Amino acid sequence: MRVLVTGGAGFIGSHIITTLRRAGHEPLVLDALLPSAHPTAPDLPDVEFLHADVRDAASVRRGLHGVDAVCHQAAMVGLGKDFADAPAYVGCNDLGTAVLLAALADAGVRRLVLAGSMVVYGEGRYECPRHGVVRPGPRRPEDLEAGCFEPRCPVCGSELASGLVGEDAPADPRNVYATTKLAQEHLTAAWARAVDGTAVSLRYHNVYGPGMPRDTPYAGVASLFRSALARGEAPRVFEDGGQRRDFVHVRDVAAANALVLEASAALPAGALTTYNTGSGDPHTVGEMATALALAHGGPGPVVTGEFRLGDVRHITADSSRLRRELGWRPEVGFEEGMTEFARAGQRASAAAG
Ligand SMILES: NC(=O)c1ccc[n+]([C@@H]2O[C@H](COP(=O)([O-])OP(=O)(O)OC[C@H]3O[C@@H](n4cnc5c(N)ncnc54)[C@H](O)[C@@H]3O)[C@@H](O)[C@H]2O)c1
Ligand SMILES: [Zn+2]
Repeated sequence: MRVLVTGGAGFIGSHIITTLRRAGHEPLVLDALLPSAHPTAPDLPDVEFLHADVRDAASVRRGLHGVDAVCHQAAMVGLGKDFADAPAYVGCNDLGTAVLLAALADAGVRRLVLAGSMVVYGEGRYECPRHGVVRPGPRRPEDLEAGCFEPRCPVCGSELASGLVGEDAPADPRNVYATTKLAQEHLTAAWARAVDGTAVSLRYHNVYGPGMPRDTPYAGVASLFRSALARGEAPRVFEDGGQRRDFVHVRDVAAANALVLEASAALPAGALTTYNTGSGDPHTVGEMATALALAHGGPGPVVTGEFRLGDVRHITADSSRLRRELGWRPEVGFEEGMTEFARAGQRASAAAG
């Protein structure tokens, strides 16, 4: 199968290229090599490469020539520096997706896999002992400043038990990036309806592993900790370190993409199917920092109490649908994956070890 992988020079995209090639497919890459993602010249994967922006319709049309399916990874990621980044996020992620979808419609390509994200859910699933499942709103800055990090029941203020979010949970994006990831899904669903296309969004959890970008404001938390350790510094853990996430290994995420691409001819057309893509083994950010520090042999983490307004407290996915329906089996366990990541290089960080 010939597959156009947008964002194929990025962290997850380059693992997808490797996985697709190993499975005998023919991937080609379209990537704008954004400076925020590639502060230095990247090691390009050894494949057909189109240096272009997904917002450039003519280049996208060129990239679609002879293609059976598209794996859309290109996006600006992370929380960014500040709100001034909003137009760039919306441009790359949403205008970019719209241009790509229009070109797909034009070229008659009917199979698309989208890099979705857990951020579309906002806060995770919470239960109040008195009010059942509730949806706490954004945490108040004054609570966060006072060190009260756990969201409370919006009705009675009780402490809540957090659980796993299913694909049918309502969307509640809490920042610009999350909003653009949700809009990508809505655009893709509209495309699938309009052209009777097959569209799947893999809502990735916190992806980590070799090749993760270094500590830019756009990088994930595992990467920031890894960079601190490489400098001989302690990982600085925000809040009280008790925020829960599901850290899923990049090779497992790449395998999920390959699986969906291979299954896509048999998947329902005319609608978007969503799959949570997490390891199923949630950990706190504090535990992750400790595991990395131990494996790296660096100083243990420091809990700082700092916070970022756009962050959510706990978000852990129920990824059983992807296992059940498509037989996906994540293979890299938490300890093994973190140990490898603590020792492996990050992108553009050869000098830092
Ligand atoms: N890393 C995670 O934990 C995570 C979690 C959930 C979802 N995702 C999604 O996975 C996808 C890949 O993320 P990543 O972590 O590999 O990030 P990355 O920054 O390493 O890769 C993204 C790639 O997209 C390219 N790109 C960005 N805008 C582009 C544009 N307008 N035109 C062409 N190329 C463009 C960048 O140059 C980069 O190579 C993104 O869609 C992201 O939203 C990532
Ligand atoms: Zn309550």
